[in-house]
Amino acid sequence: MSRARTTRSGPLRGETRVPGDKSITQRAILLGALAPGVTRLRGANAGADAKAALAMARLLGARVTESRHDGILIRGGALRESDRILDARNSGTALRLATGLLAAQPFLSILSGDASLRRRPVDRVIVPLRALGADVTARKEDRFPPVVVRGRALQGCAVVTSAPSAQVKSALLLAGIQAQGITSVREATPTRDHTERMLPLFGAAVDREGTAARVRGPATLHAAEIEVPGDLSAAAFLIGAAAIVRGSDIVVRNVGVNPTRTAFLDAVRRAGATVEQEAEREASGEPSADIRVRAAALRPVRVGAGEAAALIDELPLIAVLAAFAEGKSAIRGAGELRVKESDRIATVASGLRAIGVRVEEHADGWTIHGKGRPRGGTVDAAGDHRIAMAFLVAGLGSREGVTVVGAEAAGVSDPGFLARIRSLAR
Ligand code: S3P
Repeated sequence: MSRARTTRSGPLRGETRVPGDKSITQRAILLGALAPGVTRLRGANAGADAKAALAMARLLGARVTESRHDGILIRGGALRESDRILDARNSGTALRLATGLLAAQPFLSILSGDASLRRRPVDRVIVPLRALGADVTARKEDRFPPVVVRGRALQGCAVVTSAPSAQVKSALLLAGIQAQGITSVREATPTRDHTERMLPLFGAAVDREGTAARVRGPATLHAAEIEVPGDLSAAAFLIGAAAIVRGSDIVVRNVGVNPTRTAFLDAVRRAGATVEQEAEREASGEPSADIRVRAAALRPVRVGAGEAAALIDELPLIAVLAAFAEGKSAIRGAGELRVKESDRIATVASGLRAIGVRVEEHADGWTIHGKGRPRGGTVDAAGDHRIAMAFLVAGLGSREGVTVVGAEAAGVSDPGFLARIRSLAR
């Protein structure tokens, strides 16, 4: 396992870009495989999760070519049974969305992933898919991968999701566009809406009413041109680094600012840093902007139940930022973090302790006693990309530096992370 170390940094200055949005990239790959014609993705994420989704699309019969000039081209529309296990590796999005997509394809599919993914729940997708008539089972009474999908004709229906999860909602919509009649998916807490925004680009209309999305199947799909904006969840680590390193002033260009994803920016503003959105524009149904961040002495943060879903992937980083504030921060309502790439409530708490921060761990979050500048130390990334990056950010503002064991995990979403930080710190 590779180690990486970051130490107290001078101000971060200048401009940078981040990889394409991982959620949008994976949706476009799967829809590109399903829709007849040649779909083109520009600005796609090149991390390990997106690669896993592409490999799955290939095994299912999509023809994929990648070139510097043209982006990723996917010739879809003729999916067929694979004689191999579809390996989503570390990607919950690839596994869960593909489960919904394949539930309506007339062949058998077996989906699995790495050791982390095989511990993550899939019953949250399987149970509602059954309401459409899907034949899907999984290990341990349908709780964990591998997942076995016997694809068959589905019937649209109304579903209310039980977990606040965009992956569950998306799996149902991908099944729904292939089912007979109307499928409506209602969620108690709104989650990221990239699937709803993308489906019309592939020819499937989506009606939206409050927190419900409705599709009519079977939809006649066609290929699409998708421009992927930069990933806000990758930009977040640079924004967080600029917020804690005194004197920093950076701009991250072309970052997706879909309102279902920007709660992190609000939280950082509440903590006192200056965060501005400039040059707002829209492509492929998604808004993007350049984000300028300037450092400040941070105040403690509060995140409550209503907000957690909207910054779910940024919560480990917020916990790290809270260690740099003077005073007590409370982050609650984040029980979903227990079933991410690692048990992020536990891995963040032990990481914070390892760098000298007092933290209380709760079932659904943390209380963090910030003292302005943590000591530093050695943290185990636990195979989790966001834990690796959050603590590498901590090192930049710490007194003695932070070593992250298993730092290569960052490559799941942002293989160029450390190089980008270093280019800003010069
Ligand atoms: C994602 C949804 C979220 C998020 C994950 C990506 C997606 O997961 O944590 O990183 O692409 O839809 P859940 O839907 O499980 O909350």
